[in-house]
Amino acid sequence: MRNVIFFPIFLLGSVRAVDYYGVSVGELSGSGTEGEVFLVNSTHLQILDFKSENSNLPPVPFVLISSTGQKSVPKIYKYEYSPNGEWLKKLVSLGEDHKTYTRLVVKMTGSAAQWKQFAVVDSNGSILSSVNLDKKPPQPFCCFEREADMGLFGEYGIISDPIEVLDSKTLKVPRFSYKASQTPDGYFFAGTGSEIETKSGKKLAVIGKDTVDNICPMLQDISDRDMIIRLAENQTIYDIEWLSVFCVKYSHDFGHLDLGLVDNEEQVPPYMPEMRSAEPTKSVQKSC
Ligand SMILES: *[C@@H]1O[C@H](CO)[C@@H](O)[C@H](O)[C@H]1NC(C)=O
Ligand SMILES: *[C@@H]1O[C@H](CO)[C@@H](O)[C@H](O)[C@H]1NC(C)=O
Ligand SMILES: *[C@@H]1O[C@H](CO)[C@@H](O)[C@H](O)[C@H]1NC(C)=O
Repeated sequence: MRNVIFFPIFLLGSVRAVDYYGVSVGELSGSGTEGEVFLVNSTHLQILDFKSENSNLPPVPFVLISSTGQKSVPKIYKYEYSPNGEWLKKLVSLGEDHKTYTRLVVKMTGSAAQWKQFAVVDSNGSILSSVNLDKKPPQPFCCFEREADMGLFGEYGIISDPIEVLDSKTLKVPRFSYKASQTPDGYFFAGTGSEIETKSGKKLAVIGKDTVDNICPMLQDISDRDMIIRLAENQTIYDIEWLSVFCVKYSHDFGHLDLGLVDNEEQVPPYMPEMRSAEPTKSVQKSC
């Protein structure tokens, strides 16, 4: 059994976990370029605060370089913020966006393992700045326990296999069972502190059933189902201490598991919003 809970270390960390971007591979600097590059997972990078003063840039001013000197131009997306949520917009050309600080997501050709360097180039192909891709990319974390049936456990037949972390905000609860029809209400609930009560946690969305701003209770029996759940706004796996199946009506914990990761020990892919062709529309508030 592995113990992954070291909260005192987390509390000493200076970076707010909500600002988790992945594994940093370095800063782009020189020739008027700026930005910090992170590995998101084995196929994607992201660049925070990218900017270039160079006006002689090709439509996609980036190139991946292998150890044998082979080159490939990646696909790029712009990280967009809108009142209805964040999203990734595919860019055919960076255009004028190089002039202001822009957050970009880069889809590498193939996977990170094939490439030695990521570089910013001008339209003549000259390298303006580069970083080495020599770090291990983040990957999902499996699992908080090793043996089957060692996930959630509690009243009303609550049981699951060990919980996996798919990305910094997304958990998988495999083979989840819960006799929800016998309870007033029940939610996946995550938070911090020694007391599990209404104020110490937040309701989580079940992907496929809820949206982050419209979370309904589980009221029907669930048997052996894989559940994918999304942490609430401002929560990541690095700043929660427990996951519970919780009755909001009576502020009652049906069963919980202590869990959490330390971000410099176990780096999972950062949560990424959807790739879309247009801004998300306002989600309609449905009644449960
Ligand atoms: C790019 O190439 C052109 C033609 O070869 C040359 O005139 C120009 O000076 C080059 N620009 C840079 C920034 O190297
Ligand atoms: C999330 O954090 C931001 C900045 O600290 C704060 O303004 C916002 O109200 C928080 N949102 C929620 C839902 O707690
Ligand atoms: C890496 O992250 C991107 C963005 O979320 C996603 O589209 C892609 O499928 C991920 N790659 C892998 C190997 O999981």
